[in-house]
Amino acid sequence: MRVLCAFPEAMPSSNSRPPSCLAPVALFLALLLHLSLSSQAGDRRPLPVDRAPGLKEKTLILLDVSTKNPVRTVNENFLSLQLDPSIIHDGWLDFLSSKRLVTLARGLSPAFLRFGGKRTDFLQFQNLRNPAKSRGGPGPDYYLKNYEDDIVRSDVALDKQKGCKIAQHPDVMLELQREKAAQMHLVLLKEQFSNTYSNLILTARSLDKLYNFADCSGLHLIFALNALRRNPNNSWNSSSALSLLKYSASKKYNISWELGNEPNNYRTMHGRAVNGSQLGKDYIQLKSLLQPIRIYSRASLYGPNIGRPRKNVIALLDGFMKVAGSTVDAVTWQHCYIDGRVVKVMDFLKTRLLDTLSDQIRKIQKVVNTYTPGKKIWLEGVVTTSAGGTNNLSDSYAAGFLWLNTLGMLANQGIDVVIRHSFFDHGYNHLVDQNFNPLPDYWLSLLYKRLIGPKVLAVHVAGLQRKPRPGRVIRDKLRIYAHCTNHHNHNYVRGSITLFIINLHRSRKKIKLAGTLRDKLVHQYLLQPYGQEGLKSKTQRYQCSGITQ
Ligand SMILES: *[C@@H]1O[C@H](CO)[C@@H](O)[C@H](O)[C@H]1NC(C)=O
Ligand SMILES: *[C@@H]1O[C@H](CO)[C@@H](O)[C@H](O)[C@H]1NC(C)=O
Ligand SMILES: *[C@@H]1O[C@H](CO)[C@@H](O)[C@H](O)[C@H]1NC(C)=O
Ligand SMILES: *[C@@H]1O[C@H](CO)[C@@H](O)[C@H](O)[C@H]1NC(C)=O
Ligand SMILES: *[C@@H]1O[C@H](CO)[C@@H](O)[C@H](O)[C@H]1NC(C)=O
Repeated sequence: MRVLCAFPEAMPSSNSRPPSCLAPVALFLALLLHLSLSSQAGDRRPLPVDRAPGLKEKTLILLDVSTKNPVRTVNENFLSLQLDPSIIHDGWLDFLSSKRLVTLARGLSPAFLRFGGKRTDFLQFQNLRNPAKSRGGPGPDYYLKNYEDDIVRSDVALDKQKGCKIAQHPDVMLELQREKAAQMHLVLLKEQFSNTYSNLILTARSLDKLYNFADCSGLHLIFALNALRRNPNNSWNSSSALSLLKYSASKKYNISWELGNEPNNYRTMHGRAVNGSQLGKDYIQLKSLLQPIRIYSRASLYGPNIGRPRKNVIALLDGFMKVAGSTVDAVTWQHCYIDGRVVKVMDFLKTRLLDTLSDQIRKIQKVVNTYTPGKKIWLEGVVTTSAGGTNNLSDSYAAGFLWLNTLGMLANQGIDVVIRHSFFDHGYNHLVDQNFNPLPDYWLSLLYKRLIGPKVLAVHVAGLQRKPRPGRVIRDKLRIYAHCTNHHNHNYVRGSITLFIINLHRSRKKIKLAGTLRDKLVHQYLLQPYGQEGLKSKTQRYQCSGITQ
């Protein structure tokens, strides 16, 4: 993996800057450029660039950015992460203290860490400190369970700065865990396909491990409580949630809360429908449970985490907002880019797929603005493909086109936070794989975090030097976004701008910076697939260069 070219090396130090940039309002520019070099990447299809004479000439695009006022300002934690409760099932929860995982997560902080997913509504909290040891014959489970206690006794090194528990797990234990997780993966997939989930016990100690991970990594935990515990009259039975709240308050865990996951699916998953106004009342009940607990009296509450806004789902949101619109701190929905349509890497480059969210955003905004104008909207649980993803597809370089465009488009449309499903779990939608190796989307996210700040700027394509050929969409396949550079990045002075450009064309495109951007010092970050597998690659090449226009 040769991705992380250290930023300080890539940036010229202040005394090597060209004189023009010593002006107080110096404007820097970092280009995050995606080029789909499918030709060199072993794609067997003929390449239009070399074969079609008309396309040999590169299209020149003139680009300017409006720097007067940001068009949007999104959350400081805009790019955030999710962990799925399935990690209790497959055993990875016990390895969240792994130094490598914590280090990788720290790279993406500050961010929210949402603990939620399909199994949220099957979670049962049990305040057991010492769950029974696993009995029975030898097998990964037996060794892992007994080993777990050894970690706590001997292997945990206390991180002195933050008092968090970090462990270095021996390779043999990780090997056993991967073996166990592979077996569990099949069980989890079966549940997903049949849409029937078994109950999951969350012990107090598991909650400790989860919180320890979030806290050590500089992530703020959002815990989604089980909403499917219902009284005979269909109101929420909060007794189990209350015991969880009391436990976490006793440990002074700083957590924000949600109730339920995709409530629009309850009828098919559980045979029990919950309508929007009922769910709204349940949220109000949750708020009244939190208020008397000192540490949670002002805790944030997010919801209702609806699925794709079809008609019945919008009706649910409408009922919810009417009752609980003012109770939640942000309105949330979630999205899975549909599966069937992504079967090969080139599918990730389809503009229709990239644009599926625009319509959804409008629908959600319409309802939210009816009841609580200006209320923040979050997209949670974004996955690129469903059912755990596909090997060599959703974990490939190509998936990055969709991920980066999601980030660009959503910030541009004023969505406050985007939560990626998931940071780490079974399947192939994660940022970090089960060998604790970061995948292309991790590096993309890291670069995004480092360079991109919350202020979104308007981009102007000032002109195309040559008229595009009829039938050829130039701009649609060139996605251009601009933000003020993250001001926590000390390699750039305030007033710096970061542009990121996604090139979905099969050819190179030439971009000229005009207007305000003219004659500025440019740092270019170029991300390309690395190795023989091309777009399928799980590694990427990352070049940094400085250019003065
Ligand atoms: C709520 O659930 C708990 C535990 O399952 C049960 O003991 C209690 O009776 C329920 N409360 C109501 C009002 O049904
Ligand atoms: C529903 O049942 C619960 C528990 O039995 C009760 O506390 C609550 O007041 C009931 N709600 C309504 C609207 O009847
Ligand atoms: C809890 O976390 C939130 C979000 O990071 C922060 O704003 C708040 O100050 C924290 N509360 C306490 C009591 O530390
Ligand atoms: C929503 O569900 C509750 C409880 O099941 C029911 O009492 C209420 O009439 C429903 N409201 C609407 C608008 O359907
Ligand atoms: C994924 O790619 C690797 C490396 O090219 C290959 O060894 C493996 O068989 C592929 N797996 C699938 C399921 O295609």
